[in-house]
Amino acid sequence: MKVAVLGAAGGIGQALSLLLKTQLPAGSELALYDVAPVVPGVAVDLSHIPTAVKVTGHGKDDLGVALTDADIVLIPAGVPRKPGMDRSDLFNTNASIVKALVEGVAEHCPEACLGIITNPVNTTVAIAAETLKAKGVYDKNKLFGVTTLDVIRAETFVAELNDMDPANVHVPVIGGHSGTTILPLLSQVEGVSFSDDDISSLTTRIQNAGTEVVEAKAGGGSATLSMGQAAARFCLSLTAAMQGENVVEYTYVQTDDSDDAAFFAHPVRLGPNGVEEILPYGELSDFEQKAKEEMLEGLRGDIQLGVDFVNS
Ligand code: NAI
Repeated sequence: MKVAVLGAAGGIGQALSLLLKTQLPAGSELALYDVAPVVPGVAVDLSHIPTAVKVTGHGKDDLGVALTDADIVLIPAGVPRKPGMDRSDLFNTNASIVKALVEGVAEHCPEACLGIITNPVNTTVAIAAETLKAKGVYDKNKLFGVTTLDVIRAETFVAELNDMDPANVHVPVIGGHSGTTILPLLSQVEGVSFSDDDISSLTTRIQNAGTEVVEAKAGGGSATLSMGQAAARFCLSLTAAMQGENVVEYTYVQTDDSDDAAFFAHPVRLGPNGVEEILPYGELSDFEQKAKEEMLEGLRGDIQLGVDFVNS
């Protein structure tokens, strides 16, 4: 198993790479790529941790080497938010970064599974899809928007509120990855019943959790450590699924016969070739149904922006 992390010297990239170095199966390879000159140093640093995962570092002219033979590519490259910014404010910078890196994926490892972390995820995943289509190598079963951070935040906040062990809490989160497009399905959490006030305040907190971190870091960036953990969970689930385990994760994927949006986070059964099966997200409460209807237009617009960016 070879995993390539593009943007590996950044806040998310370093946290994610540390977790993968310590948790990928023995015999795996971790290729770290970044335009920042520190990336070979990050690789040397990690390589001193005694696990059977080989780490290599690749600077800006070395994308092809980092990507060749990769089974999974994770992209957290790009700029993060500062206080007062919305995720869509990142579009101008990050759209071109994602497009260029995905062109590299198309050239060097077109069969790899690709997890997009760079914001705005609602749009950058569409950019990745259109870029791969333009290169004639798009496989919708191998492209994922990593929305796992919304899931782990929801699990944490629900556990806190109900004094539960977070390890025993499972919260479905569907939709997209910004503001109201993030839709936690609190009606489906087993063993807990929430008051209407709790549902409303928890939903808002989960939707705004990224801004909570951005404001607390006061100009120093957005979530990196919790995002590193979320991306590692996604990658390790995908790794396990590629090796035959039965794994379901919530992730933002292309949904063909959906009335929702062309891309929508669903529960997805992962397998050796990426998406094995997109599972239904089940029945929604009236609150969730209304929240979904109200956000769909915005999500569709975010996706169209990505399609237009590549095709204009
Ligand atoms: P950061 O600024 O700490 O790191 C970004 C890294 O990307 C830097 O090392 C930079 O050199 C590198 N980079 C820039 N252009 C590149 C290129 N063309 N090729 C390779 N590397 C390049 O930022 P951080 O905090 O790690 O965030 C990265 C992205 O992840 C941001 O867009 C942020 O909004 C997003 N994010 C996504 C989340 C999600 O839930 N999907 C959660 C939190 C952040």
